[in-house]
Amino acid sequence: MRERERLRIAVQKSGRLGDPSRELLARCGLRFRESRDKLFCYGESMAIDLLLVRDDDIPGLIDEGVCDLGFVGRNVLGEYMLDNPSEHGGLHEIQALGFGACRLSIAIPQESEWEGPAQLAGKRIATTYPKLLCGWLVRNNVVATAVALSGSVEIAPRLGSADLICDLVSSGATLQANQLKEAAVVLQSEAVLVGAATVPDGERGKLLKQLLRRLDSVRNVRASRLVILQAPRDAATIIAGLLPGCPQPTVTTIDGMPDQIAMQAVCSGDVNWHHLEAMKRAGARSLLVLPVEMMLA
Ligand code: PRP
Ligand code: ZN
Repeated sequence: MRERERLRIAVQKSGRLGDPSRELLARCGLRFRESRDKLFCYGESMAIDLLLVRDDDIPGLIDEGVCDLGFVGRNVLGEYMLDNPSEHGGLHEIQALGFGACRLSIAIPQESEWEGPAQLAGKRIATTYPKLLCGWLVRNNVVATAVALSGSVEIAPRLGSADLICDLVSSGATLQANQLKEAAVVLQSEAVLVGAATVPDGERGKLLKQLLRRLDSVRNVRASRLVILQAPRDAATIIAGLLPGCPQPTVTTIDGMPDQIAMQAVCSGDVNWHHLEAMKRAGARSLLVLPVEMMLA
């Protein structure tokens, strides 16, 4: 069989992670021939195509080599890896993506008191994540039964098929609507980029590395601010020390003002009013903080 030359990324078709995943790829300069309701999107700007699928199918598609990368919740990846100790060299979390934060949590009826894991002994816990749940139960020395369901976990206690549940909690609205409350966190989750442990050879390998570099740079850009200011020359060192993230500022002279400088620096992380006020007290003026659009070191 001829080696596949185009890189293929699996993304959730509908659901919480779909749109932010595709927005992130757009920021990396990827454009696709739109076909929202279809399975496949052809990459027009690079030889990278999208497969729109159910999130639960994403780890398997990568494991089988159908896709090279996937955007998926850490919860889905974790459950898959526990369930499929792979012969294919395995999957791994390449990086956390900073969106889709949620928790896999044990939830109990609102009227119950939570006194700790020991009270779960002998209970039936409905979940779509039985392996992750069982791992947590073992770590907490609890003997209980995981009732594996494929969906609608939150109604299991009312139907009598379980005593409580272990499910994803994001805003908490689903629990609230089902008279349940969060008791213990089994896993902190967010969207992650998943790949096979071995990087493909040839053209696909090059594309994969290029995309990872762009993802890195998009992430850095999001957390970066360009700070511009003017100051007396003799205050420059102190002001540079007040810039968050210890950047290397560029300092230039201002025409006709030999004792004044202009400074600019790309700061990583949060630049807040306290930082600006401290720099102003040290002599800075005309302070500007700007978002960064693109960055290539
Ligand atoms: C999760 C979970 C709950 C809901 C919780 O489903 O199964 O139904 O989100 O969110 P909330 O706390 O904001 O109400 P998800 O959207 O991840 O879909 P899936 O598990 O069916 O893929
Ligand atoms: Zn799902």
